[in-house]
Amino acid sequence: AKPFPPRHLLSIADLSPAELTTLVRNAHHHKTAIKAATGEIPHSLRGALAGKTVAMTFSKRSTRTRVSTEGAIATMGGTPMFLGKDDIQLGVNESLYDTSLVLSSMTAAIVARVGPHSDVADLAKHSAVPVINALSDLYHPLQTLADFLTIAETHPSSSATSLGLEGMKIAWIGDANNVLFDLAIGATKLGVDISVATPKGYGIPDEMRGVIDQAALTTPNAGKLFETNVPEEAIKNADILVTDTWVSMGQEDETAKRLAAFKDFRITSELAQRGGAKENWEFMHCLPRHPEEVSDEVFYGPRSIVFREAENRLWAAISALEGFIVNKGKIQ
Ligand code: CP
Ligand code: NVA
Repeated sequence: AKPFPPRHLLSIADLSPAELTTLVRNAHHHKTAIKAATGEIPHSLRGALAGKTVAMTFSKRSTRTRVSTEGAIATMGGTPMFLGKDDIQLGVNESLYDTSLVLSSMTAAIVARVGPHSDVADLAKHSAVPVINALSDLYHPLQTLADFLTIAETHPSSSATSLGLEGMKIAWIGDANNVLFDLAIGATKLGVDISVATPKGYGIPDEMRGVIDQAALTTPNAGKLFETNVPEEAIKNADILVTDTWVSMGQEDETAKRLAAFKDFRITSELAQRGGAKENWEFMHCLPRHPEEVSDEVFYGPRSIVFREAENRLWAAISALEGFIVNKGKIQ
């Protein structure tokens, strides 16, 4: 008999609003426990992956995602096995179908960074173990979990049932890309409004807008999506200003064209002021950062929470791997 198919994390769209909230909360609890003076690994995590190997198939570079997921696996007593694009036959010289069957017969899970999203979706389709998307051209769920952990930490709430972020506004200024798409899906599910300013021709594709609209149907309290080509319009009353690189991995050939198209989208204090951001606005960026998309003054300034956000990748990874590998997709 065919075993019960595993549950995968390919996008924030795979999570209900309650599950998203729980993963962020668990990340916060684990962070607090492990960083406390006693620094003990919570009982539920200790040895949770002992004797298990997690395959990490990365077809693109990575600092944060690699270090945070390998660290998360180590924290739970498991062994991460990093397999870079030159190490294994990931869609080159062997079908993803064959790779998926082989990897999943020997490991407890697959963490995969790919180019086209269909690659990670194909791996998942045939895998007997959970597949976690470590970045595809469409989604970056581990980043979004860390981002909402960061926002929740800097905007603490006493609500017992939600993260208490309803009514906040995020302004995304820059390229409509993988990091934005999962962030927008998450924001929608958590009741956070998101305004997206992109140059003409670089906006959210219609199909992706459909996915974000679907996310709004998962909760009565959905956050709203606004789109514009004018950065100041998106920034009006925003609590958080966020951007990412203008040239994602794989788009290097378009660098000159993109730098020209995005030149008025650089985040600076003057832009934030001109746009009328909230008085206490904060700045986020998934990193790696390049100076063209944000000024040093903002990036290294007191409003920037980017290094907290980067550290939170570890706590988010622990929470996600606990949910999807240790607890087999039962998020509690
Ligand atoms: N933010 C992020 O995913 O960074 P890396 O590409 O370094 O993993
Ligand atoms: N949008 C970027 C994110 C890197 C973490 C890329 O895809 O290269």
